[in-house]
Amino acid sequence: MITRIEIDGFKSFLNFVLDVPPFLALVGPNASGKSNLFDALGFVADEITGSGGLLSAGRGLPAEQFHRVARGAPVPGFAVSVEALVAPEPGAVLPIRFDVGAEMVLRIPRSSGAVVSHVAHHLPEELLEFIVEDPEPGVTPRRTVQSWHRYALSPQAMRCRCSPAERGPLAADGRNLAAVLGRMAGSAALADLVADLAGVVPDVVALAPRLDREECAFDLVVDGQGSVPSALLSDGTLRVLGLLTALHDPDHPGTLLVEEIENGVHPRRLGELLRRIRHRIAEPGGDRPFRQVILTSHSPVVVAEGYRTDPDALIFLDTAVRVDPDGDRVSRVTVAKPIQPDGEPGTFVSPRQVRRYLEAAA
Ligand SMILES: Nc1ncnc2c1ncn2[C@@H]1O[C@H](COP(=O)(O)OP(=O)(O)O)[C@@H](O)[C@H]1O
Ligand SMILES: [Mg+2]
Repeated sequence: MITRIEIDGFKSFLNFVLDVPPFLALVGPNASGKSNLFDALGFVADEITGSGGLLSAGRGLPAEQFHRVARGAPVPGFAVSVEALVAPEPGAVLPIRFDVGAEMVLRIPRSSGAVVSHVAHHLPEELLEFIVEDPEPGVTPRRTVQSWHRYALSPQAMRCRCSPAERGPLAADGRNLAAVLGRMAGSAALADLVADLAGVVPDVVALAPRLDREECAFDLVVDGQGSVPSALLSDGTLRVLGLLTALHDPDHPGTLLVEEIENGVHPRRLGELLRRIRHRIAEPGGDRPFRQVILTSHSPVVVAEGYRTDPDALIFLDTAVRVDPDGDRVSRVTVAKPIQPDGEPGTFVSPRQVRRYLEAAA
């Protein structure tokens, strides 16, 4: 379970620190850095598993992952640290910390004797080299980052049949949903999943995974409609089903990173979905498989629900122009603001601001 994220010099982050609870909703304006935070975790995971965090960056070229400045010295490197609690064996909970970073340097032949210096961002990629710190190897770090699952569920992908061999954790786009449900067939976890789904999607009665000509498929049994094959289900139903499947999967505990939770969910049911998700959160080392959820949202329902039930689990991300007094560096950075009744102005969101946010959105 991720407990803390520190980012310095990656994308929109400079000296950014966020303590992460077991359930966290990130809200805030467009381009405030919500997805960048997930990208930073993706970088760490890719580095630890050896798949090359900078080269496999989903958005932008390697050089573009370094914090860009409007004025002043470019940022020559970045560091991302993640602290987590892990339970390598039942009952034993240990803290673990990853420190991963990268430096950008000019590609100068060693024989030239030139001093390698940091460079401006506008240099062509061919001239740049990226030195990535050797992350700690080892089974526990690798297992830990492999338990971080970022979901961008695609209804189209979830409608498809798939091979029974794809019964691992739910894929990022949900394309092996039928196989995961097949693996869960007959389990208590599947019954819980159906109960949660019925709380969000009206008239759901049951889920029926099946094998059809060696392929995994499933039907949703709907009151008054009978068995509806996956291909006919609505986008919203499939998104909620995919998310709940990842959340209930008994064989793959972990941290779910979910973008725009409200996508495809009726606003009246979104609060119920959040309550049901929260109900499934479990810390490592307990009787239940550990389950953490970090989600992003633009929905006032998420703000209202979070503010009402657990203000500590609601963080507003915003941007601010930062002027570095020493280096004369000027850039726009992501800032995290918790909800607090008072404190240093500009570093928190007050209950009055929350009310105004909700009124503006109503
Ligand atoms: N290397 C970078 N340096 C500074 N800002 C960046 C960098 N890469 C992306 N950004 C900024 O991050 C913003 C996108 O953030 P993102 O996390 O996708 O937003 P959202 O909160 O909507 O998910 C863009 O405005 C972009 O300018
Ligand atoms: Mg985003």
